[in-house]
Amino acid sequence: MAPPGFTPETWEQFATAGILVVEDALDAAQVARLAAAVRGAPEPTAWNIVETDPRFTVMIDHPAHLGYLYDVYGEMLKLLRSEYFRRPPGQAIRNKWHFDGPRPVPFQVFAEQAPLRIKVGYWLTDLPHGDMGNLTYVPGSHRRPHLSTYHTHEPHPEEVALTVRAGTMTMMWGGLWHRVAENNSDVTRLNMFLEYGPSWIVTSDREHSDPAWLAGLGRTRRILMRDYVHPNHLIKPPAEDVPLFARRADDPGGDADDYGPHVPLELRKRSTWLERHLSS
Ligand SMILES: [Fe+2]
Repeated sequence: MAPPGFTPETWEQFATAGILVVEDALDAAQVARLAAAVRGAPEPTAWNIVETDPRFTVMIDHPAHLGYLYDVYGEMLKLLRSEYFRRPPGQAIRNKWHFDGPRPVPFQVFAEQAPLRIKVGYWLTDLPHGDMGNLTYVPGSHRRPHLSTYHTHEPHPEEVALTVRAGTMTMMWGGLWHRVAENNSDVTRLNMFLEYGPSWIVTSDREHSDPAWLAGLGRTRRILMRDYVHPNHLIKPPAEDVPLFARRADDPGGDADDYGPHVPLELRKRSTWLERHLSS
């Protein structure tokens, strides 16, 4: 069964601000485990990290975030990219104002109702104030095609620096304008990101997963990697991968029942929570 996800209230916050902040998503032991993995990794940042360390692998379908993603992308859900960042004190090279991923059709068009990419962030060190290498963003800017400070480090009058305790999870709407603050503290900032979207959006950290690694995954994690040999499976998942989850106890089911008994599960459209929410 899919873990809990959005409520109408949290969706409203996410759709308005372009970011949702969930405190205490991880407990202290989980934070310590992930922080140790990021601290001990060879490079200050890396992609496709779920394949490199079992402590990252378990995050593919972590219940603190996966239900939210399932509510948006449903049976098409795919992990598009995973990465971590270690940002030491005094780090000068950091991200200027930008948005993650592309803006052209269909991204901008879809962004009116729902993002085509959502980036989950786990914050593994306390960020009690700014100037700590914080994620810095302009709330609500995911619907703006342009930002005057694009590709600079200039402060923006509407910017907000993310200040959170370790263990906080954030979800960022693809297209939200953001940058990274300087780290003038004496703490190395640690975090990891997992980006999700529908299976027909290309991955950005791999072409294929390592077959031996993939074979060791459980069903849900394997499906979420969507490492299909036949490209058509990316737009029409194979029968053995449907459904990704059983219905939640409070799931009304909806149109998955609007078929004769001769129509197999993988040929039935099953509305997502978001589809039902937007049409209600
Ligand atoms: Fe970014």
